[in-house]
Order: sequence, then C-alpha cells, then structure tokens
Amino acid sequence: MLDVKAVRKDFPILSREVYGKPLVYLDNAATSQKPAQVIQALVDYYESYNSNIHRGVHALSMEATDRYEESRRKFAAFIGAPSTTGVVLVRNTTEAINLVAQTWARRNLGPGDEILTTHMEHHSNLVPWQQVAQERGASLRFIPLTHEQALDLTNLDSLLTPRTKLLTLNHMSNVLGTINPVKELTEAAHRAGARVLIDGAQSVPHLKTDVTDLDCDFLAFSGHKMMGPTGIGVLYVKQEVIEDMDPFLHGGEMVLQVWDDRATWNDLPMRFEAGTPNIADTIALGAAVDYLESLGMDNVREHEVAITEYALNAFRELEESEEVRVYGPRDVTQRGGIVSFYSEAVHPHDLGTMLDREGIAIRTGHHCAMPLMGRLAVPATARASFYVYNTEEEVDLLVAAVRESIRYFSGTRART
Ligand code: ALA
Repeated sequence: MLDVKAVRKDFPILSREVYGKPLVYLDNAATSQKPAQVIQALVDYYESYNSNIHRGVHALSMEATDRYEESRRKFAAFIGAPSTTGVVLVRNTTEAINLVAQTWARRNLGPGDEILTTHMEHHSNLVPWQQVAQERGASLRFIPLTHEQALDLTNLDSLLTPRTKLLTLNHMSNVLGTINPVKELTEAAHRAGARVLIDGAQSVPHLKTDVTDLDCDFLAFSGHKMMGPTGIGVLYVKQEVIEDMDPFLHGGEMVLQVWDDRATWNDLPMRFEAGTPNIADTIALGAAVDYLESLGMDNVREHEVAITEYALNAFRELEESEEVRVYGPRDVTQRGGIVSFYSEAVHPHDLGTMLDREGIAIRTGHHCAMPLMGRLAVPATARASFYVYNTEEEVDLLVAAVRESIRYFSGTRART
C-alpha cells in the first residue's frame, strides 16, 4: 500500500498554490508531476557530467554514455523486454507510432491490406495509419464500442481477416480510462497473421507491463506521463521484427561506415537513433523508473483502483440526478484512473475554468480523440486523471466544485 502523504513530499510542485488555493493536480493523463529525484537527475547531469555520448573517449562522455545506456536497460527491465535490442529511444508515443508507420508499415502494407484499430484511439494512433493506408492503398477497420465504452469484440473474427496486417490499439484509453484486453487481442491477431502495436502512453505509467507476456510486436510510451521529463519516450520492437526494419532518420550515430555513395547501419537499436539523442531526459527517465519501482507498480495500481472507485462513487449522486454523465466501464478493474464526464448544464471549457479558480487542474476538450467525441455525441468532455499522489480529499474538492459550477451555470441559464 502506498504512503500517499510521504509520496506527496517527493513532489515539490504539490506544495504550490493556484489563485491562493492549494494545487489539486488532476491532469495526470496529460502529463504527470515529477519527483525531486527526477529533477535532481537532470541537475546532476548538467552540473557534473554533461557531454555527448557514444563519441568521446574522455571521462565525461564515458560517464554520460554509461548512464544513458543504464537507463535503456532500466526501460527494458521495466517493460519485461528480453534485451535492449528492441528498446528505441524517441521523443514520445507519437514519434514511436510514426516510426512504425514510416518504416515497418510502408514496407509491409500493400493494396487491399487492412489495419485494424478501435474507435477509442488518440489521434496519434489514428492519423499516422490514415496516412500510410492512403499511400499504400490499404484501409482502416475499427473495433466498435459497447454502451459502457469498452471494446465490443462480438464480431472480432470478421474484423480480423487474412488481409489484416496490423492490429493497433491502446492499452488504456486516454479519454475513457477503459483498459483493453490487449493480451487476448494480440493472440487473436497473431492467429490471423497480423502484427500488433500497443499504445502504452496511458498504461505503462500505471500498470505493470510485460511485453514478453503480452507478446506484442510494438509498444509505444512516453516518459513525461510516468514522472519523467518531456521529450523522451520509448518504442519497444520485438527482435525478429526490428531486425527486418529500415532506419527512419539518417545521419550521425545510426551508421557504421560511410562512403561517398553509401553507408551501412549501426547495431540495433542505435540504427533508429540518428543524431545526438536526448541524453539528460533519458537519464532522468531512468530515475523516474527507479522511483516507480521503489513504489512498486502493484501498489501504484492498487492506489489508483481505490481512488477511481472513490471518484466514481463521489460522482454517483450527480449521475443519478442526470446532471453529469460519466464515461467508461463501471467495473474499476476494467479501467484506469481516468474519469471523463459531461454536463449539459456547463460546457467543459467553462467548467475547467471554474475549477481552475479553485486550484483544481483537469483537462477539458476533445483529448485528441475527435472521432470518439462524435460517437459520444458531445463536443468535448471534462477529464480528471489520477496518479500516486492524489487523495480522496482532492476528489471531494473536485466533485464539490463540479456541483457548484453546475448550480452556477444552471442558475445563469435560468436567469437569461
Ligand atoms: N495525450 C495526452 C492527453 O490525453 C496529452 O491529455
């Protein structure tokens, strides 16, 4: 079990105020806060051994190289990868998915082929596939949603056909919090001869993830949602797949030998990391992984299940009076710490602004999932998303402020 009070002390930002109120940070699905240990890792790098890696013979460069590669080993272990061969360091989940689209997919997709995805994807796991499908004459198919916004797998057999070359889906929806049965779906896709990409942006920071057990071909995730800095993310690729992939960016670092007219490629995974990489942030993400490991991912999950259950119960009265609609599965074991909701009485942006005045940070908008908003028949939603440092008291403040905003806007409407 997490000692949330002690955890909160590790996050300097949580002691600040917003408009004279203590910060209630409930926008963790957008980006998480950073513990002092991660911030210190950045400071240490720049103060003590800042230098370029894989290039120098001097002490600083060797120290930085060691720390950078040590982080890569930590990422591999954190996701259960058998080695670092398929652990490619990129900027974020979006870049990771684009890398797969531009390399593996352009080579492996042809006219008539299909990419199977879902109706709950972030734009970053949709638009790259639209582009590559257009270019290659392939098409997109979609797994629909149930009334509780889980995946409706009733017709999976007819959606996974011999033409399906890729199944690409998120492990946890950034809007609904729905946790998708990625292991079962990976098995089904493999039986149909398709490769599988898992968008782990929302899941890897919150759920114990084991790519060997999942057997996925690709896993993409971002460091900044798991207490690391922005600008560093990971693309994991299964060894047999990465060995057959062409490099994406060309230049320094990714080459072994270069002549006037040609070049050969560096070992894996450096072949996919052209140019000076994001050294400081990689090392700091290593510190974030250490921090999460010290909490224990099972404890992280346990805390989030508890706080999500608490939040769903806290919203119940507003739901029953039909003042608020809450999305996603009711069963907390089927969802992560994300609660999206909508009220007819107040536009999500107005709600977000009202909450902000109370020091409460949530995200409002389409959450980079416009097609999903269309299916929910709303222009936008309000979304609270939790992490290890959030408390039941913060949920109470959220729900009280939502109730107050609805009253205020209902009153305004009645007066006009
Ligand atoms: N993908 C992030 C979110 O859902 C930015 O907020």
